[in-house]
Amino acid sequence: MKARVTIDRDVAIGDTHERLFGAFVEHLGRCVYGGIYEPGHPEADEKGFRKDVLALVKELAPTIMRYPGGNFVSGYNWEDGVGPVEHRPRRLDLAWMSTEPNTFGTNEFINWCRAAEIEPMLAVNLGTRGADAARNLVEYCNHPGGTYWSDLRRSHGWEAPHDVKFWCLGNEVDGPWQMEHKTAQEYGRVATESAKMMKWTDPSLELAACGSSARNMPTFGAWEREVLEHTFDHVEFMSLHTYLNNYAEDMPSFLASADLMDSFIEEVVAIVDSVAAARRSSKRIMLSFDEWNVWYRTRGKKEGRTIPGWPVAPPILEEVYTMGDALAFGGACISLLNHADRVKAACLAQLVNAIAPIMTETGGPAWRQTIFYPFAHMSNLGRGRVLRAHVDSPSYATNYYDPRGTQEHRFAMPAVPYLKCAAVHDRKGGFITLFLLNRHLSEDLELELEVRGMGELAVDTCHQLHHPDLDAVNSRDNPTEVQPVALADAHIQGGRLSATLRQASWNVIRLRAA
Ligand code: AHR
Repeated sequence: MKARVTIDRDVAIGDTHERLFGAFVEHLGRCVYGGIYEPGHPEADEKGFRKDVLALVKELAPTIMRYPGGNFVSGYNWEDGVGPVEHRPRRLDLAWMSTEPNTFGTNEFINWCRAAEIEPMLAVNLGTRGADAARNLVEYCNHPGGTYWSDLRRSHGWEAPHDVKFWCLGNEVDGPWQMEHKTAQEYGRVATESAKMMKWTDPSLELAACGSSARNMPTFGAWEREVLEHTFDHVEFMSLHTYLNNYAEDMPSFLASADLMDSFIEEVVAIVDSVAAARRSSKRIMLSFDEWNVWYRTRGKKEGRTIPGWPVAPPILEEVYTMGDALAFGGACISLLNHADRVKAACLAQLVNAIAPIMTETGGPAWRQTIFYPFAHMSNLGRGRVLRAHVDSPSYATNYYDPRGTQEHRFAMPAVPYLKCAAVHDRKGGFITLFLLNRHLSEDLELELEVRGMGELAVDTCHQLHHPDLDAVNSRDNPTEVQPVALADAHIQGGRLSATLRQASWNVIRLRAA
């Protein structure tokens, strides 16, 4: 099978924003406790942060971290998580049916972000709480001092403001699984009032309103429009969430599903721009894809994915990712890069243990899951100007089955190209980096790629993620079963690259000036 790709230095989609490469830490299962934070672990530092996890996080290279939820935030009293640890209350968490000990809270999260050199992104509770608690949290975090909440922060040991810029106005408020789920009108009102008061407290904030929690929610589209009609003047972003699934055990369809993220993004752009047009406004609402991943094995009804007895940090949602999952995940990375002009923030959900690229054993080691690699490649090598790739590839037809949301969907996909790719020009470093997914399960792909306007180029580095068994996984005892290898078969001459992309493989080829 052969595919041809053309890119031109001067034909660009847009520049990637630093925040495109974010991830997510929720009080969920063992993401916080036993994940990033485990006092008493042999690898824990004096703050209780696991240094082995921090080292993997640095290698993964997320740039912004969303916290504390997710579903959890819709019942969270942020005040429970600050101040002397011995006075913090234990609470029932109705999102994940567990006990929240509150020994880790906002200040610990900020400390962890500083240690990891990652920008914090905070979500406020617009489920059980509202504008008042939200503006108090902004004052606590960002006001220098001399007021009740800012002085409380200082008395807790954080003299300097945290200076958190990016805030989410609630989480998945359209979903009936959410605590105090709302209609678009109810949410539009509370989000507007919260946004006003948060920005009066700190005008430098950037705010994201909740979009639909999935593209197949019955209210998708109408929800975005109505919410934005309320919030348009007060927010900079609208959020999107997607979890790719292989419930149907249909690998071609699963690998095609990332293309639905492209459609989702383009539809949300159309909606937010139509709201702007109706107002004759030149303001452009950007997209925050603040939850995305592959997730299906540990999904399903709340009763099925929680553990009875209100445990602390139960081992829930511990999806073990396969080689096949890493391919679908790579497709999602390419979708995000190819919409760098409008998706200005994105968060892989999540970071450790719960649907995560990094796994740990409580008291034991940490290791990389298969999905770790496409993300690390994208974040470390994918920053710059995304070029518009013209792809001429054989394609296949499929139907993607998605039972998510309150209604099942089957998406007809009549022409899915076997090759999915993105090209990023790092103008400072002088690199062109190609992200290439061969979705054919049994045929290698002979790639011919022409780079126009760059002069003579040489192959700098190549990485290929491939395993003959699409069910292969990494585990505690075999943490390197699936890992990238150097791709030997890539050559370039006169701006024409040829490479063989193995069947069912994720490939990254970096070119530099010769
Ligand atoms: O990331 C897991 C959960 O998925 C989040 O808590 C929620 O926002 C989404 O439904």
